[in-house]
Amino acid sequence: MTVVVARAPAKVNVHLGVGPLREDGFHELHTVYLAVSLFDTVSVRPGEGLSLTVSGEGTGVAGGPGAVPGDRSNLVWRAAELLAEQAGVPADAALDVAKTIPVAAGLAGGSADAAAALVALDAFWGTRAAREDLLALAARLGSDVPFSLVGGVALGTGRGEQVSPVLAGGRSHWVLGIAGEGLSTPAVYGELDRMRASGALPEVAGPAPAEPVVAALRGTSPTDLAGALANDLQAPALALRPDLRRALRAATDAGALAALVSGSGPTVAALARDEAAAVRLAAELAGVGVFRTVRAVSGPVPGARLVA
Ligand code: C5P
Repeated sequence: MTVVVARAPAKVNVHLGVGPLREDGFHELHTVYLAVSLFDTVSVRPGEGLSLTVSGEGTGVAGGPGAVPGDRSNLVWRAAELLAEQAGVPADAALDVAKTIPVAAGLAGGSADAAAALVALDAFWGTRAAREDLLALAARLGSDVPFSLVGGVALGTGRGEQVSPVLAGGRSHWVLGIAGEGLSTPAVYGELDRMRASGALPEVAGPAPAEPVVAALRGTSPTDLAGALANDLQAPALALRPDLRRALRAATDAGALAALVSGSGPTVAALARDEAAAVRLAAELAGVGVFRTVRAVSGPVPGARLVA
């Protein structure tokens, strides 16, 4: 039986500069995405019409706030419909998503699933979409989906969907700590707007530039990278989830060079000096009782790819 399998990585934003709210409801971003070694896998088998199953440790409690829908509200389903429509082929496929990337965690798990689905279905249906067409479809699905396709390290501008590669001098090693339930991305952006409007945070004319982190990534010093990490969504994520402060402190107390909230959270990304330090840090953080899940990862890794 024909089976096509693709996988795509989680991401951490090592810089996330957020500008004011735009008229279209999005925020102008200058962000630097780093793809890390935690992957979701999408398998495609023959089927009549579309069907979708979701399995794996990242799926959340069925029916709970972190649960992944197995219906057309899932980004994978929408990816399939869009690609079929664009290519003019019938949308026939049985899709399965095997998740290890936690849901609603600020790690772009849903975007990874959509990107992996585009790559898998493009091969399965033989649509041979041009790279630019897949990127344009990805941008329609979500702001982070183009990056999930390209992977590596990339600067994201616009609402994050315009990606261009960034030179990285070496690998960085991280521990991802997932604390408590997921956070809603629009809620975190909304809290940032409120904090800026009330004076709790300064108003900005545009997104903070990514140059410091881009310069640090060009070198190989993890301490330089630690000093350049920045995330404008961290303050609103902490306002919505004050317990995250303890999680960030636990990471630096355990020896992380730096720790920040990943994307809109609530995942804490803790930077380690090297791979051995990341393994030690993960073991320590697994024992402190703050995190539900702890993972040692590294990046950059490639974007959505077929699995042989
Ligand atoms: O593009 P995506 O579907 O991932 O965006 C989810 C939500 O996050 C948007 O509806 C918007 O509320 C918020 N967002 C934003 N500015 C961005 C990206 C996302 O305000 N650049």
